[in-house]
Amino acid sequence: MIPYSRQYIDSNDIKHVVKTLKSKLITQGPIIEKFEKLICKFVGAKYAVAVSSCSAGLHIAAMAGKLNKTKKLLTSPNSFCSTANAGIHCSAKVDFADINIETGNISLINLKQKMRKNKYKMLIPVHFAGLPVDMKHLKKITPKKTIIIEDAAHALGANYKDGSKIGCCKYSDMTVFSFHPVKSITTGEGGIVTTNNKGLYENLKILRSHGIVKNFAKKNKTNPWYYEMQTLGFHYRITDIQCALGISQLKKINGFIRRRRKIAEYYDKFFIKFKNCKPLQLHQRNLSANHLYVLKINFKKIKKSRKKVMEILKKKGISTQVHYIPIYSHPFYREKRKINLSNMSSYYEQCLSIPIFYSLNKKQQNYIIKSFKEIVEN
Ligand SMILES: Cc1ncc(COP(=O)(O)O)c(C=O)c1O
Repeated sequence: MIPYSRQYIDSNDIKHVVKTLKSKLITQGPIIEKFEKLICKFVGAKYAVAVSSCSAGLHIAAMAGKLNKTKKLLTSPNSFCSTANAGIHCSAKVDFADINIETGNISLINLKQKMRKNKYKMLIPVHFAGLPVDMKHLKKITPKKTIIIEDAAHALGANYKDGSKIGCCKYSDMTVFSFHPVKSITTGEGGIVTTNNKGLYENLKILRSHGIVKNFAKKNKTNPWYYEMQTLGFHYRITDIQCALGISQLKKINGFIRRRRKIAEYYDKFFIKFKNCKPLQLHQRNLSANHLYVLKINFKKIKKSRKKVMEILKKKGISTQVHYIPIYSHPFYREKRKINLSNMSSYYEQCLSIPIFYSLNKKQQNYIIKSFKEIVEN
């Protein structure tokens, strides 16, 4: 079976992890900070706080940005639920802007309209499928006091139009990445928050670990064993074992991104000629991390449901996925209020993610293209 995505682990990755397993500290040792520094260097940010997942990172980023029950969060419905959940975990009100039908990213036109009518404490744009939102423009239309957090779960290795890397926080307060196995690089499970703001950085570190503050003894203030829980935090820590894998994976990221782009461009060449389906995010492969390859398929025209198409593909050994069910249509959100955003719902009716990952070879790609031709073009 060809999966829609898969991690790539080589002998160097295994060597790094085994070395850490044989070392004295396997959880809160020196490797976490080393990984944080390397991510900072790669993306061009001042600070980074590695955490147990991107979901955890989004939660503490929203908390550090002072989102609370009196405030509102505005985000994209075309994402995994943890993007919006970050707001719910802070007891905030969560609202959604529609998406741009060409990119699947949040629509800056709708965002502007919404911000004209409402006051939002926080915005979380999502770089969907690895394609950067136009953050320069987004920042320009957003009130100065609004906190901007980039959900870059799909976008490690992607670039803004000016060539700088997503995560440098040039146009935002914080950026959050995921290291889940299907992402640009993996630590098994894991995530990281980057920022250029020292205050946010200190806050994130405390929230990651129970709200506990240590190091009083270092400043000769009190007993060596003393620590204080100063706020309510979480156990959102990542381990040295995971970060050892992250460090090794990060060495390969440029090759990973190059290969993903090649795969996407090769697909584009063929799918652009199809009548009943069209690639999403065509022409923007050079900026993107190309985390997903999404086709918009006219299921009505081909007289086959998405379920049927997925079943036929599965029988042929090709696994596909749907990214995403609009967050507002999950029962938890649906019960609260009725939202229907027209671009999002029409996109959802058509989308299907097909395999893209580092080790996907030409033969497999040709087989996928040929199978699609038989199913959707006949
Ligand atoms: C856009 C987006 N945001 C957040 C997350 C959460 O990431 P994690 O699984 O690392 O918590 C995901 C996970 O797939 C995602 O796709």
